[in-house]
Amino acid sequence: MRLGVNIDHIATLRQARGTDYPSPVQGAVIAEKAGADFIVSHLREDRRHIQDKDIFAIKRRLKTGFNLEMALSGEIINIALKLKPDKVTIVPEKRKELTTEGGLDLNKNRRKLEQVLPKFKRKSIAVSLFVNPAEKDILAAKELGVEEIEIHTGRYADAAGVNSRQRELTRIKSAVELALSLGLRVAAGHGLNYSNVSAVAKIKGIEELNIGHSIIAEAVFNGLYTSIRKMMTLVR
Ligand code: PXP
Repeated sequence: MRLGVNIDHIATLRQARGTDYPSPVQGAVIAEKAGADFIVSHLREDRRHIQDKDIFAIKRRLKTGFNLEMALSGEIINIALKLKPDKVTIVPEKRKELTTEGGLDLNKNRRKLEQVLPKFKRKSIAVSLFVNPAEKDILAAKELGVEEIEIHTGRYADAAGVNSRQRELTRIKSAVELALSLGLRVAAGHGLNYSNVSAVAKIKGIEELNIGHSIIAEAVFNGLYTSIRKMMTLVR
């Protein structure tokens, strides 16, 4: 099982004050040292967290594979083709959403994907499609000729009761089985945290999990004590 670490929310903190810290590039360096298999980042059209300069600096400075999450936007596609990350994960994007809400509707986006996918292939950039754990999307991913999908685990993560959580988990398992039977490679992610990750990590056939928000949130408390002591020394 590989772990992709999404460093976007280090940039969220930076953008909140318009400072030049904390640096997501430094975060990516730490993720690499910690053994992350992929650095993951979503360059959103509204640039609410990660900026263009960040992704180019990460690509320049790191040896770890880079997975760029991106919407099917002409501008971002051109940037991705210039950046040449190891992998792009194509996600849906809405301006007003707090975070990616659900997977990409592959049937609705089929024509656009058919135009765009060969461009990445020509540059040897692997493509993964971020999809809901739904049969129609898994079948469509296969028809589109990609080798990999990432299954959206957000509904599982958000499920309130034990029963609905179990239902979502079963949906993910069935999707993984179908994808594997079609020869697709399977990653998963979104909303995974320290209490809900194990059940997903146990699903046979998922080879990569992409996790961001919960890791950055956990890091705040792991570092807070030392950070206060450091400031205290300066102040006193
Ligand atoms: N995978 C994909 C495709 C995503 O869009 C995101 C969010 O950027 C993640 C994984 C990570 O989600 P989270 O920040 O909730 O761990």
